[in-house]
Amino acid sequence: MDDAAFAELTSAADPAMVVVTTAADGEPAGCLVGFHSQSSISPAHYSVRLSKANHTYRVALRGSHLAVHFLAADDLPLAEHFGTVSGEDAEKFAGLALQHAVGGVPLLEACPRRLLLQRITLLDDGGDHVGVTGSVLSAGARGGFVPLRLSDVAHLRAGHDSEERAISP
Ligand SMILES: Cc1cc2nc3c(=O)[nH]c(=O)nc-3n(C[C@H](O)[C@H](O)[C@H](O)COP(=O)(O)O)c2cc1C
Repeated sequence: MDDAAFAELTSAADPAMVVVTTAADGEPAGCLVGFHSQSSISPAHYSVRLSKANHTYRVALRGSHLAVHFLAADDLPLAEHFGTVSGEDAEKFAGLALQHAVGGVPLLEACPRRLLLQRITLLDDGGDHVGVTGSVLSAGARGGFVPLRLSDVAHLRAGHDSEERAISP
């Protein structure tokens, strides 16, 4: 496989960045995600891909719901916080203005453009990320916005490399 061509094609899509949050047994989690998309029109489904290395993935395995927050161009500090720090090492939600949705899922007040999902499938196809699909329970938007894109955050160093594997707690 031509790695350079693969990287060129996938980065050309320049996806909008989101922060995915979830919770299980009172434990919140969340991380920056570039792998995500709508996956059904009717019923409305949305899919995200979580790295097996991430704390968010391990919590999502036990959680029933997720929120997908769409970042705007001026949300770089939030992207850096959720994309470069791991919930294993820090309390990522401390000091952030939050609401809580069904399942205890933390909603970031700073990001009102978001979907609330009820998890319906989890797909491990042998890669380093796992697909999580949810039915869309609610969607909130605040008019047009300029998304924060992968090209805006490509300089960030992820809190976990995708090569890392989950370690049993
Ligand atoms: C540009 C960028 C894109 C990322 N995309 C994803 C992604 O699609 N899925 C994912 O699970 N992690 C992704 N990450 C990595 C996590 O956001 C990062 O490792 C985070 O610190 C994990 O936090 P956690 O251990 O608290 O879950 C990305 C990071 C960056 C910087």
